[in-house]
Amino acid sequence: MPLPRTLETEWLDVLPADDPRAMVSRRDLRLVNRLMFNVALAARRLKAIYPAGCKPRRILDLGAGDGTWMLALARRLARHWPGVEVTLLDRQSLVAGATRESFAALGWKAETATAGVFDYLKTSPAPSDIVIANLFLHHFEEADLSRLLALIAGTTGCFIAVEPRRARFALTMSRFLWAVGCNRVTRHDAVASVRAGFTGDELSASWPQGGRWHLREEPAWPFSHCFVARHVSDGL
Ligand SMILES: C[S@@+](CC[C@H](N)C(=O)[O-])C[C@H]1O[C@@H](n2cnc3c(N)ncnc32)[C@H](O)[C@@H]1O
Repeated sequence: MPLPRTLETEWLDVLPADDPRAMVSRRDLRLVNRLMFNVALAARRLKAIYPAGCKPRRILDLGAGDGTWMLALARRLARHWPGVEVTLLDRQSLVAGATRESFAALGWKAETATAGVFDYLKTSPAPSDIVIANLFLHHFEEADLSRLLALIAGTTGCFIAVEPRRARFALTMSRFLWAVGCNRVTRHDAVASVRAGFTGDELSASWPQGGRWHLREEPAWPFSHCFVARHVSDGL
């Protein structure tokens, strides 16, 4: 029997960006992403979509935070995918100059957009070859999630999400983040994120019906839940 999906406010979303607890929690988030292997999970799926010699031109990262997760992904991909343009969208302005410089050193061009995701997507931004979201979709309750996925489907032919898996094992392990030194904000938000996470084919069910999309949704070891939507006419 799956755990019921419940949403509660994550503390990192309401703390000012320069609050010391938020700053430590953002550092913790890098560790949590490493423990979840989320960069590897996304990189593997992206490489499977683009055969050798092909690459995307533009990537949009939704809820990009401080941009360091996308930077870690770029480090894995830049050798095969030179010169990609990436937009880091978040409602908080968090991307440090050093992070932008690190993208540039890889040969990628990073720009930031500070806006709520609905406002941003409604401005009809330039289409992206890939829209990606890491630890982001679980912030939205069902009606907003469906609305968000419909907007995403209107701006790209390829969407990848890596989210917390709503499962007892992930929930239990999220309660042990004290053991690797995570602060109270991270410990609270990790448990809340798992409870708001996804399982089964919940994201596929919220994806707009009727278009010609190939959907793949699966648990990803150890703690994640991955969703890939590709438009069948995307030519890849
Ligand atoms: C858990 S963090 C993940 C950050 C990043 N993807 C990572 O893995 O390090 C979620 C991010 O989503 C952003 N966010 C939450 N709701 C948002 C919204 N409605 N519009 C834009 N950004 C939002 C928050 O500011 C936060 O930086």
